[in-house]
Amino acid sequence: MNKSITSILDLDSASINKIFKNIKKFKKNKTINKYKGKTIGLLFEKFSTRTRLSFESAIAKLGAYPIFINKSDTQLSRGESIFETARMFSLYLDGLVYRTDSHNKLLDFNSKATIPVINALSEFEHPTQILSDLFTMKEHFNNKSLKSLKIAYVGDSNNISNSFALAVKVLDLNIFFCCPDEYNKSLKKINKDFKKLKISNNIMKSTKDVDVIYTDVWTSMGMEKENRKRLKAFKNFQISKDIINNANKKVVFMHCLPAHIGEEVTEEVLNSENSIIYKQAENKLYTAMALIDYILSS
Ligand code: CP
Ligand code: NVA
Repeated sequence: MNKSITSILDLDSASINKIFKNIKKFKKNKTINKYKGKTIGLLFEKFSTRTRLSFESAIAKLGAYPIFINKSDTQLSRGESIFETARMFSLYLDGLVYRTDSHNKLLDFNSKATIPVINALSEFEHPTQILSDLFTMKEHFNNKSLKSLKIAYVGDSNNISNSFALAVKVLDLNIFFCCPDEYNKSLKKINKDFKKLKISNNIMKSTKDVDVIYTDVWTSMGMEKENRKRLKAFKNFQISKDIINNANKKVVFMHCLPAHIGEEVTEEVLNSENSIIYKQAENKLYTAMALIDYILSS
């Protein structure tokens, strides 16, 4: 069975619930030497602090050996194909954590690899982040069912929003997506056949009485050239105290980080009592342990 996680859609609700249980287990019992002798590669074509460190540390805590692979040190950067690379990596590794500059390349790698591949962010999805964040919501709201939470995602339709949108398909979540009209394309695309996503451009309506407000940067990695245009287009989509006050009294603020303070969120909100960004960042470690365990277990 191919246990790759290239997308949230590679998991069904039963496996996600099992992963949540394991995240909890690893949070209690942080070091388990279960996978001695296994080797996991980490191929990163984009910057990373949290995802790289959490996975590298998780692999070590599970007794396996992490090998960080800088793309520019491999023959990939000299033109060797992704298909050939997948065949080679499969000879030496037991799994790959892959942050890529092209989602299609990740799928091409996965199509030829005989080892499981975890998507550690592509321009289209960031499934491990969303799994960790959904766990954090469940944990924060004392194990309340995710379906019963009202969640608002405000900002760009990007890898984070897309993984949330696909998670709606699998877990039937109640998410209000709020983006400027010219920046909701990928969500609209996901919704073309699905038709159940709630997409709006009205920030007050989308955040009214919600339990969770989630945002992400307006300019994702690789889109830096569009930064000035985006700053203008998104200026009314900032999470400020007024937006927090529009939500449920006990609303939590979430952000995958890194944040651009003064753009998508004010400093006041980012560092407020409503903010659970450090809980989110911490849980990435236990989520990484649960996901490595998922791909390595038979
Ligand atoms: N949230 C997240 O993926 O952060 P990094 O880019 O630092 O890995
Ligand atoms: N949307 C952001 C997420 C970073 C974790 C990006 O792709 O840069």
